[in-house]
This record gives sequence, structure tokens and C-alpha cells, in this order.
Amino acid sequence: MSQIPAPEVDASLIDSSPLGTRSPGASRFSGIKVDSLSKTFNPPLLYRKAGQSKSKVVALKDFSLDIVAGEAMGVIGPNGAGKTTLMGCLLGFLHPDSGSVLIDGLPPNSLPIKEIIGYLPERLNFDSWMTAKRFVTHHHELSYQPEESREKDVEDLLNAVGLDQKKWDLPLGNFSRGMLQRVGLAQALVGKPKYLFLDEPASGVDPGGVLAVRQVLRDLKAKGMTIVLNSHQLDQIEKICDRVAFVKGGRLEALEDLVDTDTNRREIAIKFKSNPELMPSKEALQDIALSCQSELSELNYFVAHFTVSNNDSLSQLIKMLVNKDYPVLEVIPQSNRLERYFKEENA
Ligand SMILES: Nc1ncnc2c1ncn2[C@@H]1O[C@H](COP(=O)(O)OP(=O)(O)O)[C@@H](O)[C@H]1O
Ligand SMILES: [Mg+2]
Repeated sequence: MSQIPAPEVDASLIDSSPLGTRSPGASRFSGIKVDSLSKTFNPPLLYRKAGQSKSKVVALKDFSLDIVAGEAMGVIGPNGAGKTTLMGCLLGFLHPDSGSVLIDGLPPNSLPIKEIIGYLPERLNFDSWMTAKRFVTHHHELSYQPEESREKDVEDLLNAVGLDQKKWDLPLGNFSRGMLQRVGLAQALVGKPKYLFLDEPASGVDPGGVLAVRQVLRDLKAKGMTIVLNSHQLDQIEKICDRVAFVKGGRLEALEDLVDTDTNRREIAIKFKSNPELMPSKEALQDIALSCQSELSELNYFVAHFTVSNNDSLSQLIKMLVNKDYPVLEVIPQSNRLERYFKEENA
């Protein structure tokens, strides 16, 4: 695969005023405070007509979360978990039945907050006749950005999201999903937001597009933007986010710190040299595992699978095996650490 050039994000894409100074509520709390949100929907009309369940759909239930200004928060969960509903409430598009959202101390649908948020929706529905450049320019106008810098701002944005200059003047109707996502991201960044909300930014995007979006988001985060990212791409979440919220059935089921790798149980496999004489017995491996807060979950000939409690327990395990002269060849991480949430769900 050809190398994808990493788009350079211009610092001017982010408002450089001190965090929070663009909103009057800043002195209260710089960040997003979600307090006991609950949201139900009436069942879709079609179901009601067909005489199926008439009960309300619970999309969010008693959901609380604090997002600190400057952090990247990932939101994961199965389909229908409530991720898009949560984003709708954070943006002020949906009104919760109870509970509240405050951004920098103000409700999300207040004007000063609208000025500091950018949003890339899950379903992109752009006017197909507009060109990429016209579309981003239109949003630049809508968000009252200065006319003098309009042309340069739009070009900087299209460059930042890595949209090939040859496509700038083509109508969006001809664009692939990956190209549309880049245009959508440019649109989300047009107002130099302090808070950026992205709902499934990489769904249906080719690997090159995924890498480009990742690079742009990492650069924006490094420059101080707060990012809320709903995604099914666990790998993308792990590489971009500081924390991740696992949502299921409208509830916050878990909140995990992705920066601190030491606190997590995970699965690893240890491969030994294929020499039966040097190979430890199952019982010996079980005992060693127990003595370092680990567990032997499976032994397949020369490969032993363990669940380790944290980094210390892993290094102790390796040390003990090596000290006993067992022929350790390789330690292999078993899965993306976030996959376990989905495994448990299907178990
Ligand atoms: N406008 C709506 N009307 C009726 N039900 C809805 C509506 N929006 C979402 N829901 C329901 O709320 C639940 C959560 O949906 P959603 O927030 O879209 O989940 P996710 O983004 O995690 O896939 C689902 O059961 C979904 O069918
Ligand atoms: Mg969704």
C-alpha cells in the first residue's frame, strides 16, 4: 500500500485563546459535565402500526460522565447502546427526559457553546452538487468566520484533512465515503472549535482514510482540542484517546484509562521452544501463574495462554519462567485490550 502523507495540522485551526476563555461560563468548569442523563424514545411508528411492542425505547439511563478539557474521550459499545443519543444530548440536539449536560458550565444549546463546538455526524448527507471547496466555504460563512481569511482558511482546512487538491473543485456526489469523511471533518473544524464531536468518523472508510483521520485527530489533540469520539474501531480509539467509556443498554458500564496501561488485566500467550523434555507441566505453569497474580487459561502443546493482572504480574511471570530454565521463546499480546468488552458481552 502506498504511504499516506500525514497531513500537517496548522495550529491556527484551533483557537489559541486560553482554554475556556471563549465562553462566559468558563470560570465554573472547563470541560463537559454529564449528570444522570436519561432519554427514552417512542417506538418507531412502523412498529406501533404493526402492533409490535409499544413500550418506550430506553436509549440512555442515569448516565453520568465528566470529560476534562483537553482530553480525548472514546465512546464504544454495541449497536443501539446509546452512543449517538449521548452525542445528540451533548450537542443539544436532543433533550434528555432528565439529567443535564453542561459544557464549560453552560447548556450545550446556548449560543456561546455553539460557537466552540464542531461536529461530524454519523450519517453524512451532503448536497451532491456542491464542490468540496464550496461546501467548506459555505460552512465558513454560516459560522461567521472572517471574510478576509475565508479563502486561506478553507484551503488550510482541506489540506489539513488531506483532501487531494485535484478534488477540491469536484462535486461531492462523485466522492467516495473516505473523501466525504475528510470534507465532513474540514466542516467540523471550520469554527476552530474547542470541543470536537465525531460520530463514527471512520465507518466505511478505506485504511488510508483511517490513518489520515487518526493523524489529524492526534495532531489536534496535541494542540489542546477536546475530542469526543464514538467509534467501532477499537484500534483507532486506543491510538487516539486518553480514556474510553463503554456504553451498553444506555448505561455507562465502564470507564477505562488508556494512558495508564498498568491497571489492566489482559491476555497474553507465551510460546516455548518445541522441545517436550524442557516443557513445563500444566500444573507447574498453573502454580507459577498463581504466584504472580496471573491465571493459566489454556495450554496448547508449546503455547500457554495466561490472563495477567497488570504489567508487574506479566514481568514477574516471564522472570519466573526464565529463572526455572523453561525455554521461553516469545510473548504474544492476545487481543486489542478493548475487545474484551465485546467478548464479555457475547459470552
Ligand atoms: N429517533 C429515535 N426514535 C426511536 N428510537 C430511537 C431513536 N434514536 C435512537 N433510538 C433507539 O435508541 C437506542 C440507542 O440508539 P443509538 O443512540 O443510535 O445507539 P448507538 O449509536 O449506540 O448505535 C436504540 O435502541 C435505537 O433504536
Ligand atoms: Mg450510533
